[in-house]
Amino acid sequence: MVIYMDNAATSYPKPKEVLAAMNHFFHEIGGNPGRSGHRLSLESGEIVYDTRDALAQLFNIEDPLQIVFTLNATMAVNTALSGLLKPGDHVVTSVLEHNSVARPLRHLEDNGVELTRVSCPAPNYQLDLVQLEKSIRKNTRLIAILHGSNVVGTVFPLEEVGKIAQKHGVYFLVDAAQTAGAYTIDVQKAGIHLLAFTGHKGLFGPQGTGGLYVDPKVKLEKLYRGGTGSMSEADRQPEFMPDSLESGTPNAMGLAGLGAGVHFILKEGLTKIREKEIELTNSLMRGLTDIPGIKIIGEEKAQNRMPLVSFLMEHVSPSTIGEILDERYNIMTRVGLHCSPWAHETMGTYPEGTVRISLSYLNTLSEVDTLLEAVREITREEVRV
Ligand SMILES: Cc1ncc(COP(=O)(O)O)c(C=O)c1O
Repeated sequence: MVIYMDNAATSYPKPKEVLAAMNHFFHEIGGNPGRSGHRLSLESGEIVYDTRDALAQLFNIEDPLQIVFTLNATMAVNTALSGLLKPGDHVVTSVLEHNSVARPLRHLEDNGVELTRVSCPAPNYQLDLVQLEKSIRKNTRLIAILHGSNVVGTVFPLEEVGKIAQKHGVYFLVDAAQTAGAYTIDVQKAGIHLLAFTGHKGLFGPQGTGGLYVDPKVKLEKLYRGGTGSMSEADRQPEFMPDSLESGTPNAMGLAGLGAGVHFILKEGLTKIREKEIELTNSLMRGLTDIPGIKIIGEEKAQNRMPLVSFLMEHVSPSTIGEILDERYNIMTRVGLHCSPWAHETMGTYPEGTVRISLSYLNTLSEVDTLLEAVREITREEVRV
């Protein structure tokens, strides 16, 4: 039996409701949503709308039609950044960003957008809010930050950043790839103008799903154009949402699964999900701390971090540990840079990276115990590996 602890890359397993919804779509529906007039197309459209509606409920979004479906968080972030920014604009971001924010921003910087990276100092790698506010200039158009770090588990205070954005009249983009589905994200309370999320991690949907919430005040240039099933007589893109930013047949079967994932989360409740995650993380961190030769990076308190832990072992490289955990113990983790070279430069773990254990609501305490025993054994054998 495999123990899966790579949920920050993609969650596995998924709740059984997710497969049931996709199975139902595959066998009973199959139609193209919002395209044809027959009942299977209409039912498909209703399923896609229901997923939009469930997400709107989860993120406290007033109008579900302000959510644009994408293939993942990366596509959502690209839609937001390239749709908003022009040469001469300034963006404030953080040094913990994933490449899905870092790379589009570097590309825009190469094309005339100015960029400031705010530090997140050790030991807990929290965002420096004073520096963030000080770095805002006359031409600052956007603050673009992640909510939770996929490398070190830090969770940024969205409401405080949102207040700074509002005070200075700049837009606020949040990359919620790691936190959606476990943390309260209230776009209205936190003043979020653009919320990028992915379907296949904490939302328990399948890969190939994700989306972007766009505040009605924000007008984005389109990343691409095409058929929407609406205004078919016009050869120009509709200007209304979500069609303005959402062209081509969506991954309707995937969105059926994503909807089931979000309904599962709404049914369980974010409080219960977070409590379980904290319990697992607490046990993981206490266990790792007791093993000689292990160094945990970042925030010490389990309740202040996401359910993921990056660690180093004296004398054994992260890649060796990952290999042994997989091959000898059937435990799946992720080692290396986790698509986040900026974060590892910040933590001093570049270029080798770390071993990352990332848990989900569906992991168990006994799985954590098995992992801890495996790590203990590896440290005892370190001379031989
Ligand atoms: C913080 C963060 N942002 C963005 C992404 C990209 O997500 P996706 O690959 O689904 O686009 C990830 C994925 O690991 C992530 O951890």
